[in-house]
Amino acid sequence: MAQIQASDGFETLAIHAGQEPDQLTGAVVPPIYQVSSYKQDGVGGLRGGRLGGADSGPGRWIEGYEYSRTANPTRGALEECLAALEGGVRALAFASGMAAEDCLLRTVLRPGDHVLIPHDAYGGTFRLFDKVLASWGVTHHPVPVSDPAAVRAAMAEHGARLVWVETPTNPLLSIADIAALAEIAHSAGALLAVDNTFASPYLQQPLALGADAVVHSTTKYLGGHSDVVGGALVVADTDLAARLAFTQNATGSAGGPFDAWLTLRGVKTLGVRMDRHCQNAAQVAAMLTSHHAVAQVYYPGLAEHPGHEVAAKQMRGFGGMVSFRHAGGEEAAVAMCGRTRLFTLGESLGGVESLIEHPARMTHASVAGSVLEVPADLVRLSVGIENIDDLLEDLRTALA
Ligand SMILES: Cc1ncc(COP(=O)(O)O)c(C=O)c1O
Repeated sequence: MAQIQASDGFETLAIHAGQEPDQLTGAVVPPIYQVSSYKQDGVGGLRGGRLGGADSGPGRWIEGYEYSRTANPTRGALEECLAALEGGVRALAFASGMAAEDCLLRTVLRPGDHVLIPHDAYGGTFRLFDKVLASWGVTHHPVPVSDPAAVRAAMAEHGARLVWVETPTNPLLSIADIAALAEIAHSAGALLAVDNTFASPYLQQPLALGADAVVHSTTKYLGGHSDVVGGALVVADTDLAARLAFTQNATGSAGGPFDAWLTLRGVKTLGVRMDRHCQNAAQVAAMLTSHHAVAQVYYPGLAEHPGHEVAAKQMRGFGGMVSFRHAGGEEAAVAMCGRTRLFTLGESLGGVESLIEHPARMTHASVAGSVLEVPADLVRLSVGIENIDDLLEDLRTALA
């Protein structure tokens, strides 16, 4: 039986944490427990413990199984693995990234609370604050999270219960200094939540830098194959973990067992995939930088990127996302998105296959007219792990 140790490396944890061979059959990977209810040994006599019934590891929080909204062994395996990868005490897996965000926000915020949010962020996150939470009396103030002095000033002026950060941001790839923002949030009595979707835990571990909660759309790099939608929260504090688990169960936002299984299968190869995503994206960014049809490239791996030094300090690599402004303007950017052969025109990101999109008309249409509005000539690339020569050729042809 694979016994993980605290000293095991990331790639080992990705393959083994929460994933001991099944106690009953010896199945090498956690089975899909496609089940809603569990037989009890007498009233209140729950069977279980963590997957496989082993007696150690962070999975001990599960006291037994009664109903799969509350706990399911396949979901538990994913949660245990994600907790290990992010260095948290506990992870919770959700039906989507937005469900994870909603659970965190409704757990830590109350009507009358204020939140500092990034002025460059995933459009759906902004929509959640602007169109849903606002109706419940939670207000927000967008700040440039790449500028700690601006965040400190906004905190002094507006106060906040929570600072919400994405880094790198979607779609402009800005970098926030997580340790600096944790200090600012904590000294004002606020929590710091970091959406780690673009980096993945392989490249960046926000809890170790002082964040209180990590948010994921596991739909992206963690799942990695564009075949499952999911989300996750990982926290460093057992009390917050228990409160989040209560909300998740009370509101019923957990993901299903097959989705958890698919995500876990993706997680096993996260390290090797991210290495290749980073290599390919760096070459794409370099090519775009010297292309006459490109006005500006956003990639934190470029030395001229304003967040390059902070990214180099807090990330293992610079990620697989590259955005750029088309020198020909909006219509040229839109036209180019329809001309690629390998880069598929589509929303989402983080899969093995390369994707291209026009944020202003697609993923970020919901921020039109707000301070988060994105440039109309912006193109966003999720650089996959195909052969790099083929990808470069595809982009050069579409730009020509
Ligand atoms: C950075 C980021 N966070 C959260 C989400 C929401 O995740 P989901 O689509 O899984 O609900 C997305 C989706 O694109 C995202 O890009």
